[in-house]
Amino acid sequence: MRERLKKKLTSTLSQEALGKVVSSFDLVGDIAIIKAPANPEDAEAIAKQLMAVHKCVKTVLAQSSPVRGDHRTRELTLLAGENKTVAKYKEAGCIFAVDVEKCYFSPRLKHERLRIAGLVSPNETVVNMFAGVGCFSIIIAKRVPQAKVFSIDINPAAYRFMEENIRLNRVFGRVHPILGDSQEIVQTQLRGVTDRVLMLLPEKALEYLPAALSALKRSGGWIHYYDFQHAYDNEDPVKKTEQKVAEKLDRLGAKYCFTCGRVIRSTGPNWYQTVLDIQVTDYSSKS
Ligand SMILES: C[S@@+](CC[C@H](N)C(=O)[O-])C[C@H]1O[C@@H](n2cnc3c(N)ncnc32)[C@H](O)[C@@H]1O
Repeated sequence: MRERLKKKLTSTLSQEALGKVVSSFDLVGDIAIIKAPANPEDAEAIAKQLMAVHKCVKTVLAQSSPVRGDHRTRELTLLAGENKTVAKYKEAGCIFAVDVEKCYFSPRLKHERLRIAGLVSPNETVVNMFAGVGCFSIIIAKRVPQAKVFSIDINPAAYRFMEENIRLNRVFGRVHPILGDSQEIVQTQLRGVTDRVLMLLPEKALEYLPAALSALKRSGGWIHYYDFQHAYDNEDPVKKTEQKVAEKLDRLGAKYCFTCGRVIRSTGPNWYQTVLDIQVTDYSSKS
């Protein structure tokens, strides 16, 4: 689809604008979201061609602010089609309802969601500290029916969609939605209960690492730690994330090893989203 769109727009846009549009657009169900060029005529041409190339696209929205705030949401402006922001998106045999303006959502995490679900063993308990509309939690529960997932988000809109998605995917009683601050929830309800913690909020992950550790069972477990990392061409973004996290874990007195680290995607010139899988074998201040 990206190639077809590129061909259609070659005569209309500059190479630079073309590259930006083609690499930055996301499809969430029947809603396409693009980083539109400043020129409104170009934006309109892109929206029109998008709908022509992809017949199932009913709405084209332009991202008009960066992802920001505690809820990690962005402003969107209608470019073409129906004026709506709610879509149904399919991934890994699951269906997710989402308001793309009121909730964080990225189809670019689909490989990571499957990778994590593939690591979960039957009977595990998982705490998803920053669950959004519940994609990781629900895919885990669908793939590993004996697993139990506590799925926390602070955004009331994301929580409402998470509840709806639990219903749509019939994972009642296996995914437990919780509205609130994950640090507070762990400290008051989920200490020492889990085998695995997901921390997909790079902006808060380091600050919330003590809470993640205290959610783990006394026998230890796994933390999946996500970061945004700057790295020059001669630097390794995964190693830089490891250094930062190791410093914090050492200060907290945890015994751990990094079993896997990888770049999920590039997020800008010399910026990367990284993930570390951390096996924690002991955390002394957890008692
Ligand atoms: C990057 S998104 C995670 C997306 C989700 N894991 C997914 O796969 O779509 C981060 C989420 O963390 C939530 N959040 C931010 N601060 C939080 C906090 N203190 N406690 C719980 N959730 C929080 C935001 O509302 C947002 O939905």
